[in-house]
Amino acid sequence: MSIPAPAPHLSMTSSAIALRERARSLGVDLENLPQHIAIIMDGNGRWAKARGFARLLGHREGYRALRGILLAASELGVRYLTVYAFSVENWRRPQDEVMGLMKLIEQAARDELRLMHQNNVRVNITGRVHEVPETLQRALREGMETTSTNTGITFTLAVNYGGRAEITDAVKAIVRNGTPADEITEEMISENLYNPHQPDPDLMVRTAGEMRWSNFLIWQSAYTELVVSEVSWPDFKPDHLIEAVKTYQARVRKFGAVVE
Ligand code: FPP
Repeated sequence: MSIPAPAPHLSMTSSAIALRERARSLGVDLENLPQHIAIIMDGNGRWAKARGFARLLGHREGYRALRGILLAASELGVRYLTVYAFSVENWRRPQDEVMGLMKLIEQAARDELRLMHQNNVRVNITGRVHEVPETLQRALREGMETTSTNTGITFTLAVNYGGRAEITDAVKAIVRNGTPADEITEEMISENLYNPHQPDPDLMVRTAGEMRWSNFLIWQSAYTELVVSEVSWPDFKPDHLIEAVKTYQARVRKFGAVVE
């Protein structure tokens, strides 16, 4: 696919200036943004059910919400956004929902590539992606290749992802390398995760009210601040993201130490 490259020195768009101004007016410190935000996009099914729609329609609206939040995070100046699109446990859902989700993620990867590239977004994936349908793998690979030299926000889609699976895969790689058990360190495990060069999330947002981690980035989130929003994912708007960032900024991060 031939897509025009982003401008070499992207200046801030008027929409980014307006969003940053709005965030500032709502009390966000733009100099102290979370570098990496992870999102558990929950509540699509409940959102659809409450309206008498099929669950897949909720996911479709979730896709729409994601487009807005990715652009907002990018405009605010967040460096990494990682979203939970499909977990290793989600295969337990009805077959039509599973296949519908696979197709939706593939469609999004194809249809949004131009917009993401123009916005200097770098697309990335995490998870056991080799187990998803071949056409989806191709769309994701094309997204990564096309945007690999972009310098804006890194947008990571977690597809067929599980935190325990990721840690298990890391340990397998270490053992395969012949490392003696006594020499295995935390750093070694971190270095063998799917995206070893990404910083840990500073902020994890979960929508639709549940207070669970659901096996998302469990190694990387040891000291991540969790913010739970009552809003269902399809209704989650840039102002909700700004609210979550404000909540994050009011927290005192101690990393196990004493902070006076
Ligand atoms: C959880 O809601 C959501 C998911 C399992 C899928 C997330 C997928 C999207 C937001 C669709 C678009 C994604 C991309 C990358 C285009 P749920 O179905 O568990 O909601 P419920 O708890 O209310 O049933």
